[in-house]
Amino acid sequence: MSFDSPLRSVYFVFEQSVRVVNNRISGELEIRVYFRRSVEYLVCVMKRIIVSPSILAADFGRLGEEVRAAEAAGAGLLHLDIMDGHFVPNISFGPRISRFAIENCTMPAEAHLMVTEPLRWAPEFAKIGCRYITFHEETGNVHENISAIKELGVGVGVAFNPDNDLSVLPEIIGEIDLVLIMSVFPGFGGQEFLESGLKNIEKADLIRRQASAKCLIAVDGGIDLKTAPSAVAAGADILVMGSAFFHAESYSAVVKQIASI
Ligand code: DX5
Ligand code: ZN
Repeated sequence: MSFDSPLRSVYFVFEQSVRVVNNRISGELEIRVYFRRSVEYLVCVMKRIIVSPSILAADFGRLGEEVRAAEAAGAGLLHLDIMDGHFVPNISFGPRISRFAIENCTMPAEAHLMVTEPLRWAPEFAKIGCRYITFHEETGNVHENISAIKELGVGVGVAFNPDNDLSVLPEIIGEIDLVLIMSVFPGFGGQEFLESGLKNIEKADLIRRQASAKCLIAVDGGIDLKTAPSAVAAGADILVMGSAFFHAESYSAVVKQIASI
């Protein structure tokens, strides 16, 4: 394809990932091939709003069942909230639980690293099969983080807290795959949606359009059936939902209602 070809984007309906694992019973090496539905394809071609369930609010005693139910309900991207007790005042879970969740469904996964040293942990999350690795702009070294995560062969996401003015976004928008706009201060699920998050979605969408960039915009924190429509109107493609998803009676009813926005 030449640089000025009218065919500027190629989307795969499914993306393939291969993992070599040690069979726990026989001890033999196994090659596992996973086909996961592409989020880019769903958003850019099918024009879907993606529901991205955050397992922070799931029932951990039935985690496998929970992620399978989320997938069956039509959710499109698994959201893994990784907290180190330092960047945020809370500790969640790490690569092992994340891997279990990823292997129990065929949704692609995003690791949302709320950690002070994202590059220390990013390789672990690439290894377990995350499609996107998102770090916080507030951790510094934005350019270094972007290139190091790209080298792992995964999509790069950059997260912005509600009080971040996104001033660095114009210079990185062409380099990244995902912008994660926080509509709560990270650390805990179940918080109330902050209006400053809405302003940042609008700002990110404007920056994206001005740069004709392809990256996706996700919003995270306090998203429910009441706050979702304004987030979508502001330009969000992906809605991260913790409590409003996993505490709902019917996961598929949530996905259907979001689809009808
Ligand atoms: C906040 C996390 C969010 C959170 C979303 O630190 O990044 O992903 O789990 O949960 P709700 O939807 O309950 O706000
Ligand atoms: Zn999150």
